[in-house]
Amino acid sequence: MASSATAELAPERIVRLEEDGPAVVLLDQRRLPDEVVDVRCATAADVADAIRDMVVRGAPAIGVAAAYGLALAALRGDDLVAAEAALAASRPTAVNLPWALARMREEPTPERARALHEQEVERCRMMAAHAAELFQPGTRALTHCNAGGLATGGYGSAVGALRAAAERGLVERVLVDETRPLLQGARLTAWELEQARIPHAVIADSAAGSLMARGEVDLVVTGADRIAANGDTANKIGTYSLAVLAAHHRIPFYVIAPTSTLDRETPDGSGIPIEERDPTELTSRFPARNPAFDVTPAPLIAAIVTENGVHHAPYQESLA
Ligand code: MRU
Repeated sequence: MASSATAELAPERIVRLEEDGPAVVLLDQRRLPDEVVDVRCATAADVADAIRDMVVRGAPAIGVAAAYGLALAALRGDDLVAAEAALAASRPTAVNLPWALARMREEPTPERARALHEQEVERCRMMAAHAAELFQPGTRALTHCNAGGLATGGYGSAVGALRAAAERGLVERVLVDETRPLLQGARLTAWELEQARIPHAVIADSAAGSLMARGEVDLVVTGADRIAANGDTANKIGTYSLAVLAAHHRIPFYVIAPTSTLDRETPDGSGIPIEERDPTELTSRFPARNPAFDVTPAPLIAAIVTENGVHHAPYQESLA
């Protein structure tokens, strides 16, 4: 049975605003699971740097951190246009970042940022309950990257679904893609599943196909960074390959994401900006390419689960 989250994963432990100081305080996800330490950001520019450096990462958590960053700028009496511009430019792919900033613009207060944070966590709980309906007793799931509480500011999207399903006794075990090059799966998802006492095993990303071929995977669940109007979905690099593999093996591929990740302004995946990160995250010795995300075409996605329910194709209509 899954246990409740530990103190490390309480929403305010992952990201919070301290008005006495003031500062945005972030659990440093670069150093987990070996070290559980905070980073204090004294300005919105510091928060933008922390998002860029992936102290905090995961689409909804990036949005929440940016909301607190704008509230911090307002508390300090800083130039809010400049603060918003710095935060908006920190990472390009997760639409939750501009979504959160737009909601903070009229009223950049700590109360509003905290309400936005609480609502994101509540959305996670709601979509996890919907997603758990997709699991059968004894489900052997596979997930990619970290779409857990660390990535959403609490509870998690894809990991939230695994938690809700495990609480109902439906999860036999979870295969966790290590998720190269920054190992969000091997470091963060495995850590969260360990704390939730959900049986799991980390695998090399390249092992997913052969384990599917051996019949060891019943479904795939991932999060999302941006979902276009037609359902094309950007997520961590390697997600597209998994979805192709899942289709080949007739395994359902589910995307779990809050409505804050929907981008109705972008008609399809070709319009989603894909972040290219520093090639030295891969190798300093040779030339390298480091796209951080890819786009999974909607026809490869069996369902997209939001807090509103389970959506099936055509997504243009079901997500509208
Ligand atoms: O580069 P990251 O670690 O920010 O990428 C995170 C992901 O791709 C997650 O799967 C996505 O943001 C969904 S988080 C609920």
